[in-house]
Amino acid sequence: MGSQEFKIAVLVSGRGTNLQAIMDAIEHAGLPATIALVLSNKKDAYALKRAENHGIEAVFLDPKSFSGKLEYDQAMIDLIKSKSVDLICLAGFMRILSGEFIHAFPEKIINIHPSLLPAFPGLHPQKQALECGVKFSGCTVHFVDEGVDSGPIILQSVVPVYDSDDEEKLSGRILEQEHILYPKAIRLCLLNQLTLSGKKVMQKKH
Ligand code: GAR
Repeated sequence: MGSQEFKIAVLVSGRGTNLQAIMDAIEHAGLPATIALVLSNKKDAYALKRAENHGIEAVFLDPKSFSGKLEYDQAMIDLIKSKSVDLICLAGFMRILSGEFIHAFPEKIINIHPSLLPAFPGLHPQKQALECGVKFSGCTVHFVDEGVDSGPIILQSVVPVYDSDDEEKLSGRILEQEHILYPKAIRLCLLNQLTLSGKKVMQKKH
């Protein structure tokens, strides 16, 4: 392990292609990180399998076994703190985080969302984009704040929207870009190359 190796946690709920892109970037593209923990709120998330296949600790934390959201989030906080991670990456984690969770890791939580925020936050952003008739969409990596997909924007990628698109086609085109964009954003965060000023994220000049 090199001296510049950082630890990250990845929170997931589903198939985990973004997790896969992060693992691939670590293994093949020199992303200086190890994944200390993959945490899911869904038992059958395929992302858990992907993590296990790579020898990464994969934990399913069952929301039903906690008395409420705060208790659940506290359990996540405790588990993540026990790993001393430098960054928490939400990768298709479909659960709103409490203020307690967000304040436990200031400027250390990032998310990827399949639209050009601030357009189309929340659920089904690709469907929202098609219904709105936009000619371009894309994906956004942003710091997580207490709103829904509303935190400071780190990086974005743009893709065209074609007349022939349906939700699946547009989602696939955006997803390809997500897999490139997320490792880039993670690298910038880990290497401390970002400055946050209000809502604005700037890359440090060298
Ligand atoms: C990705 O498209 C990600 O941007 C989106 O869920 C998908 C997860 O795919 N996240 C959100 O919509 C969060 N608001 P994956 O499990 O294959 O990485």
